[in-house]
Amino acid sequence: MKTIADLGDLKGKRVLVRSDLNVPLDGDKNITDDGRIRASVPTIKALTDQGARVIVVAHLGRPKGAPEEKYSLQPVVARMSELLGQDVAFATDTVGDSAKSVVEGLKDGDVALLENLRFNAGETSKDEAERKAFAEQLAAMADAYVSDGFGVVHRKQASVYDVAQLLPAAMGGLVQNEVEVLKRLTEDPERPYAVVLGGAKVADKLGVIDNLMKTADRLLIGGGMVFTFLKAQGHEVGKSLLDEDNVQTCKGYLDKAKESGVEIVLPVDVVVNDSFSADGDIRTVDADQIPADAMGLDIGPRSAELYASKLADCKTVFWNGPMGAFEMAPYAAGTKAVAEALVKATEGGAFTVVGGGDSAAAVRQLGFSDDQFSHISTGGGASLEYLEGKELPGVAILA
Ligand code: 3PG
Repeated sequence: MKTIADLGDLKGKRVLVRSDLNVPLDGDKNITDDGRIRASVPTIKALTDQGARVIVVAHLGRPKGAPEEKYSLQPVVARMSELLGQDVAFATDTVGDSAKSVVEGLKDGDVALLENLRFNAGETSKDEAERKAFAEQLAAMADAYVSDGFGVVHRKQASVYDVAQLLPAAMGGLVQNEVEVLKRLTEDPERPYAVVLGGAKVADKLGVIDNLMKTADRLLIGGGMVFTFLKAQGHEVGKSLLDEDNVQTCKGYLDKAKESGVEIVLPVDVVVNDSFSADGDIRTVDADQIPADAMGLDIGPRSAELYASKLADCKTVFWNGPMGAFEMAPYAAGTKAVAEALVKATEGGAFTVVGGGDSAAAVRQLGFSDDQFSHISTGGGASLEYLEGKELPGVAILA
């Protein structure tokens, strides 16, 4: 796999860097978690230190191939300049007049950020020719390409996949580091190895659960996806999130886990309310006693204790997805308890990985710092696809 060193002397060269700057913004366009911007800085610095002219390209949100003000990358510029300690020029388009003139104006060691890649239909197009045409426009502005947006390497998109075939290409330090971490999780992990999976949709996690049956010792499940498993065990789940179509699949996993000696851990109690709200009749019930008119919004305190005990002796832990609707204070305890258990495991020498933009933002929002875990990944979907055993197109193309 090629790294920046393989690109030779980059002084004076225009280097197109694909970063993942898909950061959460509040209603006033303030960045609520700058983790991805911080993570992108070392590679950009490594290039400017060599005197390269750096052109950063990235996406924000999921615009549909045309400009939409709310998805502009403009709010990222100031924070990026601050973190880099130098002004970052901003182009108001991606491959148009503004981009061309900004790139033209770059001097050695300068950095520019171009507007959201996904304002162009070619970026995410399923039509290879359309994608390639856009990739050619991107490539025309640069002499070399560095892939550093780990959060998008599972996407076969113009700036991730096609452009890598048009320029001398290498992976940046961030992608390199993330891939090394994933290898450590999949190639002979130190045991016991536990994976904690949360989040709303069970359908998004089926592939990874399937594959983890071969590698993990314990699978701890929380978040909205838990209710499909509880239903598969024969329990009623009231108004909780339920994926009827996957009840049988989850039942199959529970049976398969028993056969293969993998321990699937489900909550024994659940925090419920009558509606998706921070007010109302919030109470804890046994996981097999969810009232018909209530919905589960977090794992309960006994479950939190159980999960912590299942992580205490682990030597390797991967965690993706919150345990409940943690954005609302009454439902944050389960996610916090799992984070605390990971911190303890880290202190005890375990290798702990928090995977995903959302999970990373969750732990920071709950007051934890990055260095309390062995690694906080910048890519949720990308990490999960790797753990599913899938090839990551944006990495494979750099071979
Ligand atoms: C992410 O937020 O996981 C990455 O930035 C990828 O975004 P996407 O799922 O919209 O491709």
